[in-house]
Amino acid sequence: MTVVALVPAAGRGERLGLGVSKAFVEVAGRPLVAHAAAALFAGGVDRVVVAVAASDWDLAHEVLGDHCMVVLGGSDRTSSVAAALSHAGDDARIILVHDAARAFTPPELVRRVIDAVRNGADAVVPVLPVTDTIRRHLAPLDTEFVGGSSGGIVDRDTLRAVQTPQGFRAEVLRQAHAAAGPAGATDDAALAEALGTVVSFVAGAPEAGKITHSDDLTIARALHESPTMRIGSGLDVHPIEPGRACRLAGLEFPDDDGCAGHSDGDVAAHALCDALLSAAGLGDLGSVFGTDDPRWDGASGLDLLGEVMNRLRAARFEVVNATVQIIANTPRIAARRVEAEQVLTAAIGAPVSVSATTTDGLGLTGRGEGRAAQATALVRQV
Ligand code: CTP
Ligand code: MG
Repeated sequence: MTVVALVPAAGRGERLGLGVSKAFVEVAGRPLVAHAAAALFAGGVDRVVVAVAASDWDLAHEVLGDHCMVVLGGSDRTSSVAAALSHAGDDARIILVHDAARAFTPPELVRRVIDAVRNGADAVVPVLPVTDTIRRHLAPLDTEFVGGSSGGIVDRDTLRAVQTPQGFRAEVLRQAHAAAGPAGATDDAALAEALGTVVSFVAGAPEAGKITHSDDLTIARALHESPTMRIGSGLDVHPIEPGRACRLAGLEFPDDDGCAGHSDGDVAAHALCDALLSAAGLGDLGSVFGTDDPRWDGASGLDLLGEVMNRLRAARFEVVNATVQIIANTPRIAARRVEAEQVLTAAIGAPVSVSATTTDGLGLTGRGEGRAAQATALVRQV
């Protein structure tokens, strides 16, 4: 029994408001219509005919051409389905009609619908119970919600929300579309019912919800796309310069000598800058600020962090968290560790952990000639 699915995908997606056809909006790197077609094949469909708008003709062939037949849709959903139906093929015994916008329909639902027709149903629709209390509102949909009057509560126990794919004995669907059909019908089962066909139900699936508004797309992306995370590390070392003010991790330490350097010598802030830049793939301190650029002469570590964060935001990154480890004999960090974390956290808008260690008298930090800091940062593309 050849099973053919018709996929109307010629809508303009006006409620989504992206200025492109909804069926070709991408989630997880694939257009919605490609997700929908994949679910149909996985659920046991033999052929898929997709009806698209003329403006999507080339794109549709590019993304669907290998697996699906692509035909020109119409000015409303019913005429798009009718256009696809005329290409269903004479061997089609069971025909499914499935919205491209129900892109994440589970293949098991497709299978349930096919099985119901195989087992003798003329027309099958997947349904879900209605969980909200439903009230009639006696005013046109486009008026403000305030105003208008209530027509009372509708008994929701007798109501079902209807999804796709809807399944039909091929002959039933052909006759339904050949007849004029009731005005304003929004699905194919209603056309069949108007000719006296009994419509059967199978259990629908919440995942088969239609992507209609931008919130639906946000949820689909949150469920099906993994955020791009990137990690980076940074290291900075400066010699100590007697008599220079000491700034470290964004704090002043009046009892200690500071570090020499083009800016304020704050190794902790500098290491954090490098960790952030490397995580985002935006270069390093030297390439961003340049030691011969007078704008950054004497700039504080916090100034540099501010500019680094501007660049990350412009490149659409947000910071998940960061760590900084200071390697130095002086100053004593322990007493001001929490304060340092607060200042750096405020500077980058994400949690920063600060720790400190010495090198047990070894090396340039151990001999007290200089200070070092290393940092890590995790960022997320937004
Ligand atoms: N559809 C179609 N041809 C049309 C109108 C709609 O093939 N002339 C398809 C849509 O592409 C969608 C399905 O019918 O897969 C359900 O329609 P809907 O969710 O309303 O999608 P759009 O019409 O694209 O959205 P909007 O109404 O917000 O413009
Ligand atoms: Mg529409």
